[in-house]
Amino acid sequence: MMLETLNPTHYNITSLVPDTMPVATVPILILMCFLFLIWNHEETSSIPGPGYCMGIGPLISHGRFLWMGVGNACNYYNKTYGEFVRVWISGEETFIISKSSSVFHVMKHWHYVSRFGSKLGLQRIGMYENGIIFNNNPAHWKEIRPFFTKALSGPGLVRMIAICVESTIYHLDKLEEVTTEAGNINVLNLMRRIMLDTSNKLFLGIPLDESAIVLKIQNYFDAWQALLLKPDIFFKISWLCKKYEEAAKDLKGAMETLIEQKRQMLSTVEKLDEHMDFASQLIFAQNRGDLTADNVNQCVLEMMIAAPDTLSVILIAEHPTVEEEMMREIEAVMGDRDIQSDDMPNLKIVENFIYESMRYQPVVDLIMRKALQDDVIDGYPVKKGTNIILNIGRMHKLEFFPKPNEFSLENFEKNVPSRYFQPFGFGPRGCVGKFIAMVMMKAILVTLLRRCRVRTMKGRGLNNIQKNNDLSMHPIETQPLLEMIFTPRRNTNKNQGD
Ligand code: HEM
Repeated sequence: MMLETLNPTHYNITSLVPDTMPVATVPILILMCFLFLIWNHEETSSIPGPGYCMGIGPLISHGRFLWMGVGNACNYYNKTYGEFVRVWISGEETFIISKSSSVFHVMKHWHYVSRFGSKLGLQRIGMYENGIIFNNNPAHWKEIRPFFTKALSGPGLVRMIAICVESTIYHLDKLEEVTTEAGNINVLNLMRRIMLDTSNKLFLGIPLDESAIVLKIQNYFDAWQALLLKPDIFFKISWLCKKYEEAAKDLKGAMETLIEQKRQMLSTVEKLDEHMDFASQLIFAQNRGDLTADNVNQCVLEMMIAAPDTLSVILIAEHPTVEEEMMREIEAVMGDRDIQSDDMPNLKIVENFIYESMRYQPVVDLIMRKALQDDVIDGYPVKKGTNIILNIGRMHKLEFFPKPNEFSLENFEKNVPSRYFQPFGFGPRGCVGKFIAMVMMKAILVTLLRRCRVRTMKGRGLNNIQKNNDLSMHPIETQPLLEMIFTPRRNTNKNQGD
């Protein structure tokens, strides 16, 4: 049209070419222009990473994510191209960052409060513009986050300590439910049950079938992990997504039933004040018309799945000297009684053990964000809409720590400046449960250690335990059976359930 307007006599492109030039030259010229454009496009990007290569680069990089898994692909790219890399996911520019100054910049600023993920994938698991974890609509997310902040701080946080102690003792008394035929403990299952029970007691308060829900949560995680970065074409093939859709429906259905029971309960109780927990607050917000039923359901679901497996407990088995050190501290601080909130700041070795476990064997090694405006990070231009993956797992092994590739409490002997260690993320979209998570991990670990010695099964030491889940938010080990041997300690007092 432009050619026509500017030069009506010459709008036929072949007539621009001298008669002597064969007609076949035109497509070749066009192709060369096209290649020149692509070549120029590649050269303009100052950020290290694989080449665009006529669109093959984006295909290969997305393929790599699907084939290797997000975690392995990120480590591969950072290792190959450096700590600030540009790749593509679903054709969208994606930066993988493991440099502490850049990670700090992203976490700190409000224009990175969104995340990214396949819209269709998130819709299938109920997270699209609902709940908090992958709610990528900043306005909706802002309305939801205060419900979580309130429930995970203040009086709830203090109450959680006693709940964790009680629940750990209760579950240790029922070890037979998680014991394999060979007589070993499936510790992953045990931890999941304790986490679910404590979360239920504090946030929902409705009796539930633990083993059934634990299984549904596991399947939900698998679905989340599988669908988060799938290309749209995957969702066109219904039999491929069916299994995942059903897993999501299953857990959502179970939550719906529990929330309905909660509604019934709230309508009959005398003193509402005593039942004003997280779920009640959401239900009342729905009654006021502030939240949809779907959103309430998703928020409760996410709160119940958020407490990740504190699997790092397995490290005790490989580090008996650390275990002894912790036991000495526990005895010195608490003597014969169980843990209370005043003890928390005095358990320094336990705290460093948890930090070192999260650093060395992280439960969350990637954080996904999206740039909501143009920016410059450490000299690299970032366009609005760019996807960002913060590779904190790698970052924690690259900078500052004296023994980065070893599990050693020496790594936390000196005060670690916050920019070098961010297992919970930070800033406006940081982990909303970071304080309660530390409290839960300390309370459960101390209660467990006071009663049992934990050992991995002979021949299945830590080196044999593969982390094969790399979800960017709350990953869990999908190792089906992590078996351990629990031996009761002789010196714990009688009334503590040992
Ligand atoms: C070892 C324990 C935990 C670790 C390492 C962890 C880590 C993280 C990380 C890295 C993020 C992303 C932060 C960011 O984008 O900057 C996150 C988000 C979140 N965490 Fe945790 N977390 C833990 C425990 C918990 C617990 C116990 C809860 C609640 C019961 C919780 C609730 C959440 C929620 C709701 C979000 C999403 C926040 C948002 O998007 O606004 N986390 N967590």
